[in-house]
Amino acid sequence: MKVLVVGSGGREHAIVKSVKKSPKVDKIYCAPGNGGISLDAECVEINAMEFDKLADFAENNKIDLTIIGMDDPLVGGIVDVFEKKGLKVFGPRQNAAIIEGSKSFSKDLMKKYNIPTCGYEVFHSPEEALIYLEKQKFPIVIKADGLALGKGVLICNDLMEAEKAIGTLMLDKQFGDAGNTVVIEEFMTGREASVLCFCDGTHIKPMTSAQDHKRAKDGDEGLNTGGMGTFSPSPFYTPEVQAFCEENIYQATMDAMKAEGRDFVGILFVGLMLTEDGPKVLEYNCRFGDPEAQVVLPRMENDIIDVMLACVDGKLDTVDLKFEDNAAVCVVLASDGYPEHYEKGKLITGFEAFDGKDDYFCFHAGTKKTDDGIVTNGGRVLGITAKGKDLKEARKKAYDATEWISFENKYMRHDIGKAIDEA
Ligand code: GLY
Repeated sequence: MKVLVVGSGGREHAIVKSVKKSPKVDKIYCAPGNGGISLDAECVEINAMEFDKLADFAENNKIDLTIIGMDDPLVGGIVDVFEKKGLKVFGPRQNAAIIEGSKSFSKDLMKKYNIPTCGYEVFHSPEEALIYLEKQKFPIVIKADGLALGKGVLICNDLMEAEKAIGTLMLDKQFGDAGNTVVIEEFMTGREASVLCFCDGTHIKPMTSAQDHKRAKDGDEGLNTGGMGTFSPSPFYTPEVQAFCEENIYQATMDAMKAEGRDFVGILFVGLMLTEDGPKVLEYNCRFGDPEAQVVLPRMENDIIDVMLACVDGKLDTVDLKFEDNAAVCVVLASDGYPEHYEKGKLITGFEAFDGKDDYFCFHAGTKKTDDGIVTNGGRVLGITAKGKDLKEARKKAYDATEWISFENKYMRHDIGKAIDEA
């Protein structure tokens, strides 16, 4: 089989590495990919938003399956473009990807179908939002309705911060049209967990759980990022929590999307808050998490191609999804200054230390291949993942492996997996 993966981050590298394990696959392309992905797949210089060019490439190169890793092309309708050409593609159509593309859509869906989430209101004008905020309790959460590079969720501790957030999103339009509408939500407390689920439009199979660390600095301080590290499984996602979510959240969401005529095929990422009142949905995404994929996929026992084809063909009920009885931790090595200002083009050394070590993975996120070697090319540079018999062993191994890599301005959090000690 020939497979094309669309995207350029650590998540796409994790997908490529899983696809590479499949005996069914003899050729992998990635568009546009990155420096490290080019060592595992042939990178193609087509941007993820150039849908027609990508579909032409898939047609001309007789690609058997295209896997869309990123949110923007999915929300923009790339799957519909591929399907119109009769090409096999893994991911939700545009009318289903809206579950991530519009926060107000997903909140209204949960309300209509009684899927547990927190209270919220939707505003299309800054004036109405500001009047509402005057009477609210703080902290409160303000979300841009549309996609905002993972930075559109603002937690406001008082009215002043909330007014500033409305200014940023709705007046200054820091995230463009994504901030034309905002969702103002109750602030939930508890443990967060990310559960990625395979979906075929009717059936849904959750993978093992994970937890992300979204803030840039130790102790959950600093700005929100795409994610600075993950661990899997979450010790707080107990079998009881899972049973509740399977009945009240995962299948309920699949059924709700079907009832709306928006059958969801692909990966549904359910961001959960495990509150005192039970699990509630924080957010939905329409693709693998990044860096959740970097700890979940290395633990998956199934051939990823078998599972993805079962999703596309509507036969996910025939798949017995299995994960190794171990744990994984991913520590992101970033460029100092991320998520604001950071330098690029710094030479990275030490990759050879990972050679021949089955429990260690060096996923490339923001890297580029040059004549001098692999250099930094983004805020999140590498995802260093290790597997261990339990979370503590995996964490020690992942942090040991972060020392094998060197580059100028290397930055990481030192407390990834701190919750493991509280379990
Ligand atoms: N790690 C969070 C996300 O992928 O959205």
